[in-house]
Amino acid sequence: MNQPIKIAPSLLAADFSELRREVRAIEDAGADWLHLDVMDGHFVPNISFGAPIIAALRPHTRLFFDVHLMIEDPIRYIADFVRAGADSITIHYESCENQLEVLSAIREGGCRTAISIKPATPAFVLEPLLPFVDMVLIMSVEPGFGGQSFMLETMQNVEAVSRMIRDSGLPIEIQVDGGITAENADIPASCGANNFVAGSAVFRANDYSAAIAAIRDRAAAAYR
Ligand code: DX5
Ligand code: ZN
Repeated sequence: MNQPIKIAPSLLAADFSELRREVRAIEDAGADWLHLDVMDGHFVPNISFGAPIIAALRPHTRLFFDVHLMIEDPIRYIADFVRAGADSITIHYESCENQLEVLSAIREGGCRTAISIKPATPAFVLEPLLPFVDMVLIMSVEPGFGGQSFMLETMQNVEAVSRMIRDSGLPIEIQVDGGITAENADIPASCGANNFVAGSAVFRANDYSAAIAAIRDRAAAAYR
């Protein structure tokens, strides 16, 4: 099932002392979504930001808020992120045992649902959950930090999930996250990914608009 190409800059790489300005700049530069990385220091060894920061940004942009929860036992906080203005909430398969319950809570809150796997988790674990998600996020680095190098071996997960989705006939997006640049976005796109998170490649560029366009062009040419 063909999906439109989307570019989701990750706020983790933005200037945190200028968040409102950064979000406006990324919107003007043609970003499709804003990717918001929430880290708790337990599920991943780093702490980023939580629902209050997302709620504070919500009135200042029309961007679609794509919240990536890298937190242990996410059911505890779903209502907070719904209230903060999330449009989509991604949970990690490895972060809980009640994935279905969490995905249902997200849907009941009126948000889109997504499930993610870390590089070492095999894609087949996601198959029973496909009817309950709008997107699958395949991590292309170990979650926890921006600015890491793209792991080519994670593309087997993109290929596997892409096959599963095609067989299911469900309209599920495939997002990749970690180390994505204008030089390598063709690789996940050729494996079936349509949705590209990019932190450093966008926010470390002088021209956000050119950076987003370059990733989009590279991906669009290879997407199948
Ligand atoms: C990593 C985060 C990513 C990260 C991407 O745990 O989930 O979203 O911010 O940053 P880059 O594009 O710099 O790898
Ligand atoms: Zn992320």
